[in-house]
Amino acid sequence: METITQKYFILSLSLLLVLGIVESFDYHEKELETDEGLLRMYDRWRGHHQVEQRSPERFNVFKYNLRHVHDTNKMNKPYKLKLNMFANMTNLEFTNTYANSKIGHYQALRGPPDCNKSSTYGNVTNLPLRVDWRKQNAVTPVKSQGTCGGCWAFATVAAVEGINAIRTGRLIRLSEQQLIDCDSNGSNRGCEGGAMEPAFTFIQEHGGLATEESYPYLAKRDKCDQAKFGHHSVTLDGMEELDGTAEALLKAVAHQPVAGAVDSSGNDFQFYKSGVFTGQCGTDLKHAITVVGYDETPEGMKYWIMKNSWTDKWGENGYMLVQRDVPEKEGRCGINKACSIPLQNPGTPNN
Ligand SMILES: *[C@@H]1O[C@H](CO)[C@@H](O)[C@H](O)[C@H]1NC(C)=O
Ligand SMILES: *[C@@H]1O[C@H](CO)[C@@H](O)[C@H](O)[C@H]1NC(C)=O
Ligand SMILES: *[C@@H]1O[C@H](CO)[C@@H](O)[C@H](O)[C@H]1NC(C)=O
Ligand SMILES: *[C@@H]1O[C@H](CO)[C@@H](O)[C@H](O)[C@H]1NC(C)=O
Repeated sequence: METITQKYFILSLSLLLVLGIVESFDYHEKELETDEGLLRMYDRWRGHHQVEQRSPERFNVFKYNLRHVHDTNKMNKPYKLKLNMFANMTNLEFTNTYANSKIGHYQALRGPPDCNKSSTYGNVTNLPLRVDWRKQNAVTPVKSQGTCGGCWAFATVAAVEGINAIRTGRLIRLSEQQLIDCDSNGSNRGCEGGAMEPAFTFIQEHGGLATEESYPYLAKRDKCDQAKFGHHSVTLDGMEELDGTAEALLKAVAHQPVAGAVDSSGNDFQFYKSGVFTGQCGTDLKHAITVVGYDETPEGMKYWIMKNSWTDKWGENGYMLVQRDVPEKEGRCGINKACSIPLQNPGTPNN
């Protein structure tokens, strides 16, 4: 009797343990108990991500991150983490490398938006309960900024791709590289960061933005190719800054994808896998993103659908669901704070 119970106990325990699943490679909780087990996991992770480097320092970072992911996933949070391709980076390294558009800095230089200006969507009522521009063919597949702090260009482009698809019915991949190389007379600084509002204005003033095909991404700043201006381009009629409230963001997202920014520091952001993100973050905006929809869970938890530029391996196929309807005026991770939209009138001709 005793042994059967014991056996049953051991069996169910090991079944439970195998559930410590990491993206594309599983681990057994037993592996966490010894350094040999952890080292095996580290090597397995390196194999999976084709990482040659192997050092005691990186192993320490890996162990720290693994512990964080493992412990967080055992808590009853509405989101889960995974040991993704960033597992060999400290949070500081990660933030400096992948979330370094310094949006807060550029926003401070520009000053707050003029909230007295009447906004395009300010008067709209009867908003839909849920919006997902991906389902309307207004969002291109998730891209990869690589180790270039040019997320401002990705957020700009995703918003322009969106309004252009909505206005013309054609979803065209547009060029981040053109902004990174050419939008440098103002405050934008290529891979050293920038902001979306001046980028929209740049596109408007230069007669449009080239396609990604004609001006492909290099993940580094290069010489501006003047020959790429003015053909196969999507044109804009202006841009508008939102007033920083959740209401303004909701109204705008109901009509088009919106460029915005978040404070993406924190281990939970780095290793986000799925679910509604309610994790720790401040409101010091570092990373530009695009809000492409909103919805709520069956349990009634409301969220924004946020498109990122860290490949489709991060988060939910490259997206994060960010909690919405929070008490803080700035929104979760400051997502309400620095939103803007490109304007394209119906019938504006593209070159
Ligand atoms: C960390 O992992 C990435 C792959 O996710 C790899 O490109 C990079 O070289 C690794 N860095 C170190 C220091 O191991
Ligand atoms: C906005 O309007 C109010 C009331 O008319 C006025 O007092 C305020 O100075 C205006 N603010 C800006 C930034 O124009
Ligand atoms: C919104 O309503 C106000 C007040 O009725 C009006 O002055 C403003 O022009 C309207 N804005 C738009 C974009 O229709
Ligand atoms: C930047 O400014 C210089 C000098 O005013 C001008 O010649 C150049 O065309 C500008 N570049 C772009 C891409 O606007």
